[in-house]
Amino acid sequence: MEAAALELKNAVIEAKESRRLFHLVLAGGSTPKAFYQYLAQSGFKQSIPWSQIHFYFGDERSVPPDHPESNYKMAYDSLLGSLAIAEKKIHRMRGENDPAQEASRYAEEIRASLDTPTGKLPRFDWIFLGLGTDGHTASIFPGVTLIEEASGICATCRHPETGQQRITLTMDVLNRARRVSFIATGKGKASVVADILNPSPNSQNYPAAEVQPNEGTLEWFLDAEAASEQIKNDLS
Ligand code: 6PG
Repeated sequence: MEAAALELKNAVIEAKESRRLFHLVLAGGSTPKAFYQYLAQSGFKQSIPWSQIHFYFGDERSVPPDHPESNYKMAYDSLLGSLAIAEKKIHRMRGENDPAQEASRYAEEIRASLDTPTGKLPRFDWIFLGLGTDGHTASIFPGVTLIEEASGICATCRHPETGQQRITLTMDVLNRARRVSFIATGKGKASVVADILNPSPNSQNYPAAEVQPNEGTLEWFLDAEAASEQIKNDLS
């Protein structure tokens, strides 16, 4: 957590010194939640220039913003709510809207906020991603077809087990970012992490394995447990 927080602090300070806004995409899930709570409860809450950041979401469940399963609610309760961020700098995927309509609306909100030329994909400064044990990331699930809106920035799908409607950024947008960071912790993620870091028949169907930024950096913030199988691989 501390390593990721320090990297984030340095990147946002650099943007501030260069008089640039910093467009940051947040992930849902319990591991990203723990990271947001760490940021809110550590010295980073004071040392990161939060007002430089515009916040976006990599995906959202089709639920209202006050619903327990809302990624926005999770991020707000864990971090954003304690930072006094101007509302216009929190770009919420509106889970209460019709998913297909919201995918189009959100794509336009992103284009406007990042000043993305027509026909181009937006380039975020940093995208945080969680990792599912099935190799999913954001709401891009193995074997689940995404229904993309016209610009190819957002898409909708249904969760393969619950059937819950989801809105997500597309893989192309993930791979357009300047920096993409996976956050994964716990023994339960060790196998999927090792499969992805060492391409294997297992990982071929993992959407997370397709995250390979075209002109950006990809990094993994792992605790010892999530890294344990990869460490064994490296030592063998
Ligand atoms: C979501 C996330 C999802 C999450 C992973 C990891 O909306 O749930 O976008 O991709 O990041 O499932 O979640 P955990 O950290 O809780 O395992």
